[in-house]
Amino acid sequence: MTTATSFWLGTSWKMTKTLGEAGAYADELRSAVEAGNVPPELRLFVLPATTSLATVHDRLDGSGVTLGAQNAHPGPDGAVTGEVSMSMVRDAGASLVEIGHAERRTLLGETDDMVADKVAAAVSAGLTPLVCVGETAAERARGETPGVLAHQVRAALGRLGRDRPSELMVAYEPHWAIGSEGRPATPTEVSEGLAVVRRALDEDLMGTPTSVLYGGSVHAGNAADLVTGLDVDGLFVGRAAWTAPGLLDLAHRCTDALRRRRPRRRTTPDLVSAIVRKDPR
Ligand code: PGA
Repeated sequence: MTTATSFWLGTSWKMTKTLGEAGAYADELRSAVEAGNVPPELRLFVLPATTSLATVHDRLDGSGVTLGAQNAHPGPDGAVTGEVSMSMVRDAGASLVEIGHAERRTLLGETDDMVADKVAAAVSAGLTPLVCVGETAAERARGETPGVLAHQVRAALGRLGRDRPSELMVAYEPHWAIGSEGRPATPTEVSEGLAVVRRALDEDLMGTPTSVLYGGSVHAGNAADLVTGLDVDGLFVGRAAWTAPGLLDLAHRCTDALRRRRPRRRTTPDLVSAIVRKDPR
């Protein structure tokens, strides 16, 4: 695995925003970028609802902000009522696609198999997959976290065949840390999860630039600590970035923290093995 160098900061708008609200957010973001208010170290991304993709694309085109979809179907265009394909979201302006978010896994029954199909389809369509992995509270309580994460990472990449993504993003998002009832993960919990994800990726992805992000109740009060204290390539935010000022505030906090961050030390394979041994699946 080759680590990507810049720092990602992005948000999924989930099932929010009318076309008007989405366009207004995009306009505000574009003005901030054009006014030089977004530090160059950051790669911003937004994942609107599918209905707003094309509008947001029109407003942000050429701004440097990456646009992605929250989901797409793995099959080719055709008779699948209610779905949109990878090529359709690409046509609407997406260059990345989120796959396997906790809410899709738990509320909509998205399985590791479906995630694997979607990752392969995304790569064939020329989209960067943003794969979400994370354990449930029950899995954590049973001591299964490392096994679950390693399994989800390997399963997600298992159908790639000879196709390799030109870039890959993986977000560690413990299910219990997400949403208004979530408990923000402690830096130690995040650090252990990130280390397991990186090790599982190392086994599979020689040479693909890969970014490992953290998401789950990231907000103005904890973003800086996550950036300075962890070996993390980006933050993936929900509620705290559902307004443009919210995202821009986080952008400044992350940049200040990046400038203070000491050169990163990768968690050693020995430590990861110790975590996995302590907590086998
Ligand atoms: P949250 O969502 O920041 O609102 O907890 C995070 C996510 O689902 O990625």
